[in-house]
Order: sequence, then structure tokens, then C-alpha cells
Amino acid sequence: MLSVEKLDQYYGESHILRDLSLEVPAGRCTCVMGRNGVGKTTLLKTIMGEVGARAGEIRFDGQALLKQRPEARAGLGIGYVPQGRQIFATLSVEENLRIGLPARRDRVRRIPERIYELFPVLREMRYRRGGDLSGGQQQQLAIGRALVLDPRLLILDEPGEGIQPNIVAQIGEVIRRLNREDGLTVLLVEQKLPFARKYADNFAIMDRGQKVAEGDISELSDDLIKRHLTV
Ligand SMILES: Nc1ncnc2c1ncn2[C@@H]1O[C@H](COP(=O)(O)OP(=O)(O)OP(=O)(O)O)[C@@H](O)[C@H]1O
Ligand SMILES: [Mg+2]
Repeated sequence: MLSVEKLDQYYGESHILRDLSLEVPAGRCTCVMGRNGVGKTTLLKTIMGEVGARAGEIRFDGQALLKQRPEARAGLGIGYVPQGRQIFATLSVEENLRIGLPARRDRVRRIPERIYELFPVLREMRYRRGGDLSGGQQQQLAIGRALVLDPRLLILDEPGEGIQPNIVAQIGEVIRRLNREDGLTVLLVEQKLPFARKYADNFAIMDRGQKVAEGDISELSDDLIKRHLTV
């Protein structure tokens, strides 16, 4: 569904992503792992068009993405939940959700019922200011906002970061339902091993901007973890 092909990305003179290729197969949950600073977020930002690439290509259902503007990429059906959530603190929960609506290509301008079904707390708190929600609720809101455009691919950057374990588990279950019940393809960046093992079908490991391993999640060995994931 999504193919990253020989991607090279720089911030100024720093070479961050190095000849990076990655396949995200349709209908599955793929987890990208790697230590802090190896370029995981940069990869996602390059997919979404927040930063440019120097070489390579990214294809979504065969369409070349790199020349397309960020809004156009979202419009193709890619939902993005950025690291740190980035919700609008002074807007209400409902207003935060509405922000995703103009990107829909089908002209539907109503918040899909499915979002409130997956996250009942967002309905209960729809008039509350985003900034007044707990960290876990804000993460649920960020996922809800990405789902508003009815994506075919959902990309999440460390959804469990800084969130209490019971909410992390709830978010994991929602990811699983989206994947299994709605057929949504998921690309997840996550450093929490138990979470990756529980919810991902396959993995890729990055180290210093390169992909150093990939496979079925059952193949994520202690040796790989020791070499590339533990600090
Ligand atoms: N806007 C920027 N300008 C210059 N360098 C940057 C910028 N953003 C990130 N970097 C650098 O690029 C490298 C990769 O950063 P990135 O945020 O992609 O890593 P990451 O794997 O997501 O890390 P983490 O696990 O901490 O989120 C780091 O060395 C970082 O300092
Ligand atoms: Mg990151």
C-alpha cells in the first residue's frame, strides 16, 4: 500500500535518512522501531510532506507522493497522528475534530459516528477545551482527528509516549479494531516492545537513518533488540 524507496533526507548538511526503503503492506499493522534520534519521526514527516527528501520516492497505492503537497497527501487517504499529539489547546474537542474535515474528498462535513464509538470520552467532552484534557485523552483526540478524513492508511508516531498504561492499552485495542474491523492499514512508530509485540503484524528497525532489520513480528529476536533497541 505504501512503499518508501531509497529515501535520502537531510536537515541542512546532516544526512538523516540513508537509502531507506520500507514496505507497508495493506491491511496489516507495521511497526517501525529504533532508538531515540535515529530518524523515525523524520521518516513520517517525509511521508506526510512536512519535510522534503533529497532522493528516492514514496508511493501510496502506486501514486508518487514526493511531488504532492501535504494537504493532497492527506486527501489521498493518509491520516497522521504526530508525535506529541499537537492538538489545539484553545479549541474545543469538537473543533479539533472538525479540522480534519476539509481534507475529505467526499464532501462529507460531519464528524463520523465511528470516532465517538471508538472513543466515547470524546463525545462526553466535545465542548471542553483540548488543552484541558489529560494526556491520554489528548492522544485519543489526536487519533480521532486523523480518522475524521476516513483514511485508508493511519500513521501514528509513538502514541503511547507519556501516557498511563491503561490508556495505552485502550489505544492499542482501538488500533487493533481499526485494523481488523475497518480494514485500515496502520504504520506505527513505537518504542514500547510489549506494545509492538501485541499489536503489530510486522516490524522494521531503524538505526542511524538506515533500515537494519525487518520481518514478521514473531521474528523480532532478543539479539536484534539488544543490538538496535536497548540503550
Ligand atoms: N528540524 C530539524 N532540524 C535539524 N535536525 C533535526 C530536526 N529534526 C530532527 N533533527 C535531527 O534528526 C535526527 C532524527 O530525529 P527524529 O526526530 O527523526 O528521530 P526519532 O527517531 O523520531 O527520535 P525520538 O525517538 O526521540 O522521537 C536527530 O539527530 C535530530 O536531532
Ligand atoms: Mg520521534
